[in-house]
Amino acid sequence: MKKSGLKIAIVGATGAVGREMIEVLTTRKFPFTDLKCFASSVSVGTELECGGKTWSCEVLKLGCFAGVDFAFFDASDEISREWVNEARLAGACVIDNSGTYRMDPKVALVVPEVNGYHLESLKSNARSGSLIAGPNCTTIQLVMTLKPLHDVYGLERVIVSTYQAVSGAGSAAVEELKTQTADLLAGKKANPVHLKHPIAFNCIPQIGSFLTGEDDGITSEEKKVILETRKILDLPALRVACTAVRVPTAAAHAESVLCEFQRAPELEEVRKILSAFPGVEVRDVPKDGIYPMNIHSAGKDSVSVGRIRKDPTSPNGLQFWVVSDNLRKGAALNAIQIAEAILR
Ligand SMILES: NC(=O)c1ccc[n+]([C@@H]2O[C@H](COP(=O)([O-])OP(=O)(O)OC[C@H]3O[C@@H](n4cnc5c(N)ncnc54)[C@H](OP(=O)(O)O)[C@@H]3O)[C@@H](O)[C@H]2O)c1
Repeated sequence: MKKSGLKIAIVGATGAVGREMIEVLTTRKFPFTDLKCFASSVSVGTELECGGKTWSCEVLKLGCFAGVDFAFFDASDEISREWVNEARLAGACVIDNSGTYRMDPKVALVVPEVNGYHLESLKSNARSGSLIAGPNCTTIQLVMTLKPLHDVYGLERVIVSTYQAVSGAGSAAVEELKTQTADLLAGKKANPVHLKHPIAFNCIPQIGSFLTGEDDGITSEEKKVILETRKILDLPALRVACTAVRVPTAAAHAESVLCEFQRAPELEEVRKILSAFPGVEVRDVPKDGIYPMNIHSAGKDSVSVGRIRKDPTSPNGLQFWVVSDNLRKGAALNAIQIAEAILR
């Protein structure tokens, strides 16, 4: 693949992830010269600025991926199901952030710092219809912390509770949080439209739909975290339990993590291991009020870890708190890092 003068496409360019893509492509000076922005018919003609130029949104149509080197899919599962193959047949290297292909055994699910080795084989022939999946935002920040610890202590079990921002449900959910907050403060009723319940001044212990059968009681979001974590870490039997909760914050997801290892973790060593891992930042001086918070992580690239402590119930257990911008490392940045790794 050529290394500069690339033609790229963003499907879902006007959405929460798409707009972050535009920002990250610009700030990282991604080497493109032509950009196709795709959105729904309501956004046709919407102008987006990226890389110092203005690009106008179009709808998807047959032949629209001609000459595209990288196609970033940031729309919905349905759009990816319908259009990813069209882009691949046109010869584009597709990086799909939807849930459609993540668990397909033929498709690599990649966080470059964690399992970037999957991209090695693509470097020579990436512009030939390759497909790489980007994980769920909740999974990305989790595996960024688990991987370096697993390499040293041997991961056996993970219990994670998530505190997920509304931007994880798309740009419409962010507007809903703002409107409901203003309405409730004005003494009016909060009307849920995109989310199942009012989110302003509330926490909702349901993200996605409830599953049945052997997964009875688990939501689709929680199942994604379980399966994707196992796939990315290449630990198919890893014991993972997750409770995913939507909270009334706009940006960045937080997670309370408890994990158990084969060997007892040592706290100072844990801080060193995490600090040394690319993309991870340790903020951990609790007595001075220094720990990760959404207000620090929003708009930032790093995955921030703190409140690192021993699990008082198990000698090989460890607890910590991890926060990361779901639109950035959780989606847009991760996808662009995949493309950058292929180009390197
Ligand atoms: N939000 C996150 O934190 C996050 C993290 C990881 C992965 N993801 C995944 O990223 C994808 C996008 O999520 P999001 O949060 O950005 O959603 P969003 O804010 O609702 O944006 C959806 C985008 O899809 C576009 N779209 C809708 N119908 C379309 C069509 N027929 N053809 C082309 N584009 C169409 C929308 O265009 P209009 O503006 O014209 O409607 C909009 O640009 C989803 O698959 C999601 O699962 C999201």
